[in-house]
Amino acid sequence: MDFTLNDEQRQLQQLARDFTRKEIIPIASEYDQKEELPWQVVEKAFEVGLLNPSIPEHAGGLGLGMFDECLIGEEIAYGCMGIYTVLMASELGIAPILIGGTEEQQKRFLTPLTEKAGLAAFALSEPNNGSDAAAMGTTAVLDGDEWVINGTKMWISNGGLAEITVVFATTDKQGGHKATVALVVPKDAPGFSYNKIKHKLGQRASLTSELVFENVRVPKENQLGGLGDGFKIAMKTLDKTRIPVAAGSVGIARRAMEESVKYAKDREAFGKPIAQFQAIQFKLAEMAIGIETGRLMYQKAAWLVDQGQPHGFESAIAKAYCSEMAFSAANEGIQIHGGYGYVAEYPVEKLLRDVKLNMIYEGTNEIQRVVISRNLLK
Ligand code: CAA
Repeated sequence: MDFTLNDEQRQLQQLARDFTRKEIIPIASEYDQKEELPWQVVEKAFEVGLLNPSIPEHAGGLGLGMFDECLIGEEIAYGCMGIYTVLMASELGIAPILIGGTEEQQKRFLTPLTEKAGLAAFALSEPNNGSDAAAMGTTAVLDGDEWVINGTKMWISNGGLAEITVVFATTDKQGGHKATVALVVPKDAPGFSYNKIKHKLGQRASLTSELVFENVRVPKENQLGGLGDGFKIAMKTLDKTRIPVAAGSVGIARRAMEESVKYAKDREAFGKPIAQFQAIQFKLAEMAIGIETGRLMYQKAAWLVDQGQPHGFESAIAKAYCSEMAFSAANEGIQIHGGYGYVAEYPVEKLLRDVKLNMIYEGTNEIQRVVISRNLLK
């Protein structure tokens, strides 16, 4: 048992921390208000090696593990959870190709993402189903050597902008999860279009879209795994990618705590800095308890992934615990800032708006509890 980061991990963490301070924090509020994705940050992340770092070496990437990915995620989310989602939802799109794709498919789909700045996306949810993922309505019909896709996907991060989207579809609406298939759809496929979802509460620097598939054709070679494997590929993906959501949540909580410490030392009431009141000190202490506990949990879950051990239970605990802990930290951060916490002049109100989504996406926290309790009861 060793809790210290090795030299490469410390360097990676420092790289992500410096990148966040230089490239993300200065523009985060502006892009939140504009509801616009800052593409220049994606390009700069690519240049320094922070974009799509899990692409394996055989496909031309860095081949970083889940632990390292989470170290990056915590730092980026400290600066802006919306920009975090742009970068990390690309990893969500890459993961099913790593889980279900052959080496040839990994090279074909992922090598282009190592040659220039580009994103991937993951399309599972639909307008009428989110938590009940197996009940998807998007259809895939085999016509000769091609799959023909029809339907609509909803709430898709990087949707429409991504070079490649992994789309989950059913070949038989009565067939449940055993009739699902995972297909890689390129951005320029005829019949594939998207609509940006506007006026989100938070994470407004990330692009969230509705995707429309009208007779979209992809070759059979774009199918990941076998017929009927789609649902399981999606589940295995989410078992992994919920861990960086936990790491990002810790980043948000850390930001809430640090901003609150700074403010509490500066702001005076009743003739002294408010940091000298126990009412404030206890809130700060609660934040620290949550951050330290949450970090241990996400790091354990990430370590299990890298060891090739089962991790779905720990991933669900990390995601639910860290997102709720960070929501509470952001909420108390606003309370410490008083009226100033309620306006955009200080960064804490954005933290609360952003972190709410962490309790919903990649499986609601209620679904995390379904996963956790099924593990206990099986
Ligand atoms: N790994 C591997 N296999 C799994 C699995 C896992 N984690 N979970 C289930 N399976 C298998 C089961 O073993 C079963 O296989 P067999 O029939 O061969 O035995 C099969 O899958 C069906 O399993 P269940 O009966 O348990 O499935 P279910 O219909 O009850 O659903 C669920 C389980 C956990 C509720 C699942 O539907 C779920 O996770 N829902 C949430 C979906 C979700 O997280 N969506 C987020 C979308 S991503 C996003 O947020 C967008 C973004 O851009 C950020």
